[in-house]
Amino acid sequence: MSIRTLDDLLAEGVAGRRVLVRADLNVPLDKQSGAITDDGRIRAVLPTLGALVGAGAKVVVCSHLGRPKGAPDPQFSLGPVAGRLGELLGAPVHFATDTVGDSARSTVADLADGQVALLENLRFNAGETSKDEAERGAFADQLAAFGDAYVDDAFGAVHRKHASVFDVPARLPHVAGRLVLREVEVLSKLTSEPERPYVVVLGGSKVSDKLAVIEALLPTVDRLLIGGGMCFTFLKAQGLEVGTSLLEKDMVETCRNLLERANGKILLPVDVVVADAFAPDAAHDTVPVDGIPSHRLGLDVGPETVAGFSAALSPAKTIFWNGPMGVFEMPAFAAGTRGIAEAITKADAFSVVGGGDSAAAVRALGLDETSFGHISTGGGASLEYLEGKTLPGIAALEN
Ligand code: 3PG
Ligand code: MG
Repeated sequence: MSIRTLDDLLAEGVAGRRVLVRADLNVPLDKQSGAITDDGRIRAVLPTLGALVGAGAKVVVCSHLGRPKGAPDPQFSLGPVAGRLGELLGAPVHFATDTVGDSARSTVADLADGQVALLENLRFNAGETSKDEAERGAFADQLAAFGDAYVDDAFGAVHRKHASVFDVPARLPHVAGRLVLREVEVLSKLTSEPERPYVVVLGGSKVSDKLAVIEALLPTVDRLLIGGGMCFTFLKAQGLEVGTSLLEKDMVETCRNLLERANGKILLPVDVVVADAFAPDAAHDTVPVDGIPSHRLGLDVGPETVAGFSAALSPAKTIFWNGPMGVFEMPAFAAGTRGIAEAITKADAFSVVGGGDSAAAVRALGLDETSFGHISTGGGASLEYLEGKTLPGIAALEN
């Protein structure tokens, strides 16, 4: 890999130079209060920011948050993130209330050596995500004007062909930050020669989101355990009734085909927790998968499933886990995710947790983060890496 790194940049000396850092500060926010519910992605970029601050750079950080539609939208402001980042860095973060406008220009111009600025949400600008190269390029020009060098530490966004990820590095000397390097190093272990047995656990709501990675992983893995909302489409493909559970009707045939080709590698739940409604206090029971009542919906995998999946995980030497097993945010439907997470930590394996949601689940359930080999900050990014796709953000660093 011909990628220059943060250490290369530091060796050149960055004191007094403006360094533009693309971070992924897309943290989950509480719907009511707007408070940050998991600051893992902010913490993950601290090693890179700390090194630049320590070396006396003028550090200009940019990020997206959520999916605003190319115009300012207060619910997606990075303002609260600037506050939290400042607390974690132990120094104030100068927040610009726009991304490339007057506030950004003066904030960057006023930075002293070793200070940090955060620009407002990149996606408040249509140019960031535009499919039109010229529109993206024009926005990238404005961003690039804030830096003498560019550091990509936004692993969670490397699969996006966006201005700040793909076009800015074409305009500035560019390097990979510590987080991006570590993520690529770890994930490349899974794609090169994983120690066997290699067991993958997939959850989350939609089969359609995971189809490409399932296709890519099937020939490689020894076992593929499927839970979460998407298991119901697989159960339906086995001819079972799934009540009012999440179901992607147009994927049933695809799932049937995958099961046929899987040669028994795919393991599905044998019992599920079904509820009257999608609500924390809904009445619920555990039933075998061939006994899901027509008026109820499955919100977690059951204890027999946890036992079966745990038995499959126990001999593993390499484990990748993406996606919760159930609605872990509601305590009544958290046992499946907790049980699988515990089984992963107990196995004598190199374990990688991929994805915003599964990483947040690990922390929300109070599990010890250090008992996993690596917790990725990238959901879609880690899946696309495992699919073997070219990631625009990585490709841009290689040139
Ligand atoms: C993520 O949360 O997966 C990353 O921050 C990328 O966000 P996106 O899916 O909105 O591009
Ligand atoms: Mg995503």
